[in-house]
Amino acid sequence: MKKEIETANIPFLLLPKPALLITCGPFEKSNIISIAWSIPISRKPPLVAVAISPTRYSYHLIEEYKAFAINVPTYEQLNAVKACGSISGKDVSKWEIAKLTKERARKIDTAVIKECIAHIECLLEKKVELGDHDLFVGRVVEAYCEEEAYDLGILDTSKFKPILHLGRDKFTTTI
Ligand SMILES: Cc1cc2nc3c(=O)[nH]c(=O)nc-3n(C[C@H](O)[C@H](O)[C@H](O)COP(=O)(O)O)c2cc1C
Repeated sequence: MKKEIETANIPFLLLPKPALLITCGPFEKSNIISIAWSIPISRKPPLVAVAISPTRYSYHLIEEYKAFAINVPTYEQLNAVKACGSISGKDVSKWEIAKLTKERARKIDTAVIKECIAHIECLLEKKVELGDHDLFVGRVVEAYCEEEAYDLGILDTSKFKPILHLGRDKFTTTI
């Protein structure tokens, strides 16, 4: 017997997806938001997208400064992902709260997270207003990762443990 799924839980049928940390806003006052709704869109041109709710402070930073970086955390940063995904950076600095280290992004004016193993720097290509989350399409201007985690063009999960978000407060990783 198959159970009917209520609308609020439909996104969770498409999980797990890697939990990611998005940095946005100018370097000095940059913010971090945890997200799991991300999509690769195109290789040529290189485009990726993230779905962010207008209720998030980060939404307005990306809209205003037209850039964001995607940082890929490892399972060791699970507590930081939970912190950056449960408080707003509007009035506090999540860098201290989540105990993450700020580094200058290479090509855009924001920070990237030193502890993360991969980074994708994007200029905002387009915002598509769709619903209770909107799509931010980013044009990738720089991407780099820890050499040890990179094998044959992929991030190799035999070399690091990703954070996989199942929905709500549930997470898992690879074996
Ligand atoms: C694992 C995880 C994944 C999340 N995914 C998203 C997401 O894809 N889009 C979104 O808008 N919020 C997502 N959130 C919620 C935001 O991270 C959360 O509301 C955050 O406090 C917003 O921070 P801000 O107000 O500083 O931007 C997620 C939270 C967690 C813990």
